Amino acid sequence: MKICVLGLGYIGFPTACLFANANLEVIGVDLNHAMIEKLNHGELPFEEKGLEELFENALPNMRFKTEVEESDVFIIAVPTPLNKEMKMADLKYVRSAAEMIYSHLRKDNLIILESTVPPGTCDKLLVPVLEKSGLKVGRDFYLAHCPERAIPGNTIYEMVHNDRIVGGIDKKSTALAKSLYSCFVEGTFYLTNTITAEFVKLMENTFRDINIALANEFAQIAEECEVNVWEAIELANKHPRVNVLKPGPGVGGHCIAIDPWFLTENSTRCRIVSLAREINDGMPNHVLQIVKGMLKGVNNPVITVFGVAYKGGVDDTRETPALKFIKLAENEGYKVKVHDPYVKEFEYGVLKLEEAVKDSDCIILITDHPEFKEINPKEMSSLMRTKNIIDTRNILDAERWKEAGFKVKVLGEGKE
Ligand SMILES: NC(=O)c1ccc[n+]([C@@H]2O[C@H](COP(=O)([O-])OP(=O)(O)OC[C@H]3O[C@@H](n4cnc5c(N)ncnc54)[C@H](O)[C@@H]3O)[C@@H](O)[C@H]2O)c1
Repeated sequence: MKICVLGLGYIGFPTACLFANANLEVIGVDLNHAMIEKLNHGELPFEEKGLEELFENALPNMRFKTEVEESDVFIIAVPTPLNKEMKMADLKYVRSAAEMIYSHLRKDNLIILESTVPPGTCDKLLVPVLEKSGLKVGRDFYLAHCPERAIPGNTIYEMVHNDRIVGGIDKKSTALAKSLYSCFVEGTFYLTNTITAEFVKLMENTFRDINIALANEFAQIAEECEVNVWEAIELANKHPRVNVLKPGPGVGGHCIAIDPWFLTENSTRCRIVSLAREINDGMPNHVLQIVKGMLKGVNNPVITVFGVAYKGGVDDTRETPALKFIKLAENEGYKVKVHDPYVKEFEYGVLKLEEAVKDSDCIILITDHPEFKEINPKEMSSLMRTKNIIDTRNILDAERWKEAGFKVKVLGEGKE
């Protein structure tokens, strides 16, 4: 069995390694020449827990190149970014992958799409391109969608242990795809058709986006009602059928902040979905209002952002709410300095802790990096010009910061 994996990013590369580790022959294909060069020298393209060892074991069964070759199976794991102006999926990479495959298609090949896509993409985009081969789907070749649920930071464990949705264009495609993934997936398989599988993946991330929006709205109402939303959420979640998620400075990452738009793009009925996006995208502005309240009367304010990654413990800044917050703060006339122990490159530069805090008037904690809990407030106190801190994730020990002379505000805390 020979598998060609197109797209060797966060999803495609570990998937390719898992297949090779299960003793299948794997051809890894990516358009990024520099990455292919690195992989052919046995260098990892990015860091991920357990990836180095997996790659070492898998390497004897792997080859890397920039072009597709004849195989038994083709797996497409290319990006599906959002066209931000149109609020639609940009499917150019999926189309280009299909264009690269069709001239190599042979009878009985199986094509699997792993990328997250709007409902109907397999049928309406992939099938017409693949049938340019002269072969017919369901008769000569097979097609399935197997959306990925793995979380960065724990990708390999989740790829092996999570339950999988497998949706084929027909029963044989579904069965073939399930049988293929069984070589490393230990979770349960749930079988359906392609469009349902596409829809389910989008529902999952939309569900989370809407529930975060609800938590964010609760946080804003709590501030007005003089209630501490964190205590209220903890108490509400004691109900056996309630699970309110956490509020925060907005939603980032390449999934939750994007995928809901793939549902709305063909529909006129997506009111809650669109509203949730609007609420979550409005959170950086809400945080700015809290900052403005704290900095009234301060001349030429300087602020320090703690964390520009979209979530704690990672260096990923894709769609980070920190960026919108910083741009809004700059428009307000604030000088902004950034510190993030994980992120090396960011369009606003990243400073060391002391440099970022020196002569600042307010720290705004945006990302829940565990390192921020270990910072000594007394040391920060001596560096600051005005001692203000805003915790948008409720991870700091507010009492310690107050003891060090800071005025502390926590997002969603209406009562001090
Ligand atoms: N990263 C995640 O945690 C995650 C989770 C679930 C779903 N997804 C979905 O999986 C898909 C892939 O995401 P990712 O994070 O791995 O993307 P990525 O950007 O990390 O990697 C994609 C790779 O595809 C390559 N590529 C683009 N066009 C190509 C082509 N025609 N042929 C070969 N290679 C090509 C790019 O050079 C890049 O290296 C997306 O649809 C994403 O939404 C990602």
